[in-house]
Amino acid sequence: MNTVTLNTHRSFDADPTVSILDAARTQGIVLEYSCRTGRCGICKAPVLAGTTEILRHEESLTPAEAAEGLILTCCRSATSNVTLDIEPLDRLAGLEIKTMASRIVSIERLALDIVKVVLKTPPTSPMRFLPGQYVDVIAEGVRRSYSLANAPRADGLLELIIKRYKGGTLSEYWFERAKANDLLRIEGPFGTFFLREEGPTNIVFLATGTGIAPVKALLEELAANPDRAAKHRLTVFWGNREAESFCWDPVGLGLDVGVHHLLSGTNANWSAARGYVHDAAIRQGIDPDDTVVYACGSNAMITSAREAILALGLPAKRFFSDAFVSSN
Ligand code: FES
Repeated sequence: MNTVTLNTHRSFDADPTVSILDAARTQGIVLEYSCRTGRCGICKAPVLAGTTEILRHEESLTPAEAAEGLILTCCRSATSNVTLDIEPLDRLAGLEIKTMASRIVSIERLALDIVKVVLKTPPTSPMRFLPGQYVDVIAEGVRRSYSLANAPRADGLLELIIKRYKGGTLSEYWFERAKANDLLRIEGPFGTFFLREEGPTNIVFLATGTGIAPVKALLEELAANPDRAAKHRLTVFWGNREAESFCWDPVGLGLDVGVHHLLSGTNANWSAARGYVHDAAIRQGIDPDDTVVYACGSNAMITSAREAILALGLPAKRFFSDAFVSSN
């Protein structure tokens, strides 16, 4: 058994047949991650010392990053004692990942290809999660990940905002067959996209499509804490292909929040802004010394936004993201 040490001097045992991410988790230490399959790049970590072995293809790691000594902790195991330049996420440490039954309370069509599904879990076994995390839904023989679109509520209800994908097995279920009282299995909570404590004045949220769901959850958390919210300047940049996909209004939360809608499609009736969310955020002005960015949506948006915004001088440690990667 080898030992992995983090930059806080916290350490954990690591079996060479298990990914570093999983080895940490089984010992109650949570490292940054999202997809767990090598595709999103969120678990990237610099290796300061030691050797690792690949267990799964590191799809989102470039050869240049690998040459610099970066690894994906969801794809590699430790084959010697290893030191990584990353921190554990203590806010997630006590949250147990569980599989549980859930019942559909309601399904509401928000747009032609978007539904809001509300789920109820057994009152004896509520899901404890942080706003911004996601769950896996297991139904019709497949497993799909969906961000939770609400902060934890007293009634324990969970909200999902789901987009239809042509030919998607669960898309057909959600849009054609799902009905109130259907029973589903869910597993979670997963992911490390959550609001960090104290920090810069400016909080910039970037979302594409239903990537607005975890952003909504983060804004709900801020709305529940007006003193904290008042210390920040909140701005949301939300991009969609269709005008009708702007089916939720952050202003309804009662927060002082600037909202910018960006259309990437060709809708002739659209008189507001067009283009990419990160371009709009940069046009508005990003102070790299006093800004934190939370980005959720397509992998392409997150890659471009991260590159463009880090080029302005924003430290990588203040760019948090959750990429929607395909389930194939
Ligand atoms: S690449 Fe490791 S969590 Fe996504």
